[in-house]
Amino acid sequence: MAMATSTMTRAGLVLDVRRGALLQLSTGDTLALHPLWLRERSRAAAVFDAQAAQRLYDASDLDPDLAVSEIAETRPGSYRVRFSDGHEWVYPLEELLAEAAIAPGEDATPPLRLWENAAQAPAEPVRWREDPSAAELCAWLERFLTLGFIVFTGLPTTADTVLRAAARFGFTRRTNFGELFDVRSTPDAIDLAYTALPLDPHTDNPYRAPVPGIQLLHCLVNETSGGLSTLVDGFAAAERLRRDDPEAFEVLARTPVQFRYRDARTALTASAPIIELDLTGAPLAVRFSPRLDYVPLRPVAELARFYRARRAFDRLLRSPDRELRFLLGPGDLMMMDNQRVLHGRTGFDPGEGARHLQGCYIDRDTPRSLYRVLRREARA
Ligand code: OGA
Ligand code: ZN
Repeated sequence: MAMATSTMTRAGLVLDVRRGALLQLSTGDTLALHPLWLRERSRAAAVFDAQAAQRLYDASDLDPDLAVSEIAETRPGSYRVRFSDGHEWVYPLEELLAEAAIAPGEDATPPLRLWENAAQAPAEPVRWREDPSAAELCAWLERFLTLGFIVFTGLPTTADTVLRAAARFGFTRRTNFGELFDVRSTPDAIDLAYTALPLDPHTDNPYRAPVPGIQLLHCLVNETSGGLSTLVDGFAAAERLRRDDPEAFEVLARTPVQFRYRDARTALTASAPIIELDLTGAPLAVRFSPRLDYVPLRPVAELARFYRARRAFDRLLRSPDRELRFLLGPGDLMMMDNQRVLHGRTGFDPGEGARHLQGCYIDRDTPRSLYRVLRREARA
């Protein structure tokens, strides 16, 4: 009997008597497809509402012993699959490859481009337009999704502009700081952001669950010579730590830390590791705010390892060569992925003049959705 060999070069879907449906890859590798995995991807009208893009049944009600009984290539790259319960559906190979994560599907977002210094992260601002073309908007999103930030110039310097800009990309996420927060130095600051102190690189609001996904900061006035904005790629720093100091990386990925915020009307706490990984081990979120993180009590030796690891990560995040530093002037706006890119500012002298930014948050999913829709429309 012919075994799945490693010499095939044409991708396709075949039925193997012993192993069932096999996805053959152009590399020569084959992947066995569980019959239920294949079956629940059927978009036949009887089982799938195309308009809602949802199944019309509970996939757990399928026969647990379902099998694939026949596969036929109906035209190049399309395979009709018949299942043991009589159901049939024609699967485009392209779709199966995307579903199996072998090829990027139509819902793919551009791969991240981690940056370790200014040369790898073009910080030159993009000219804002109230009504960008679809192609422009798509290019903005692509830059944001790959680098984790984008800086715009040429916005009005009127109050609430940041909310209109945010609405271009998603829905604002209201917090106890309001839908929009004013960043300027005030005598009774409820957050150090509202002082003239320098702010080391940090992610905002790690004490929330969920953490705000994306931050927008818009400059209305900056008459001081300080108050420069800084950005650092937290994912790139995490990967650097993983390479250079794997023990520190592991400790930060496995130690839950408590983040806290408290004022007269608010008492927020959230517990999470400083470097959060997804199930594949890739960085999912960095939470870093050395003004409000508290590691729970652990044995002294364990805490010694934690503090060493945090120091090593902190050193990377604060190393000047990893940092972008620029003046956010009146009419400039920066938008950053608050789970990836850390931001900060240098201190300033309020005696020199006023500095006033307005900020807000949006969720992380909507810019991705918008990007996919724009790409879909561009293909249509
Ligand atoms: C903040 C913040 C930076 C700035 O408000 O969270 O980090 O430039 N502000 O003032
Ligand atoms: Zn901040």
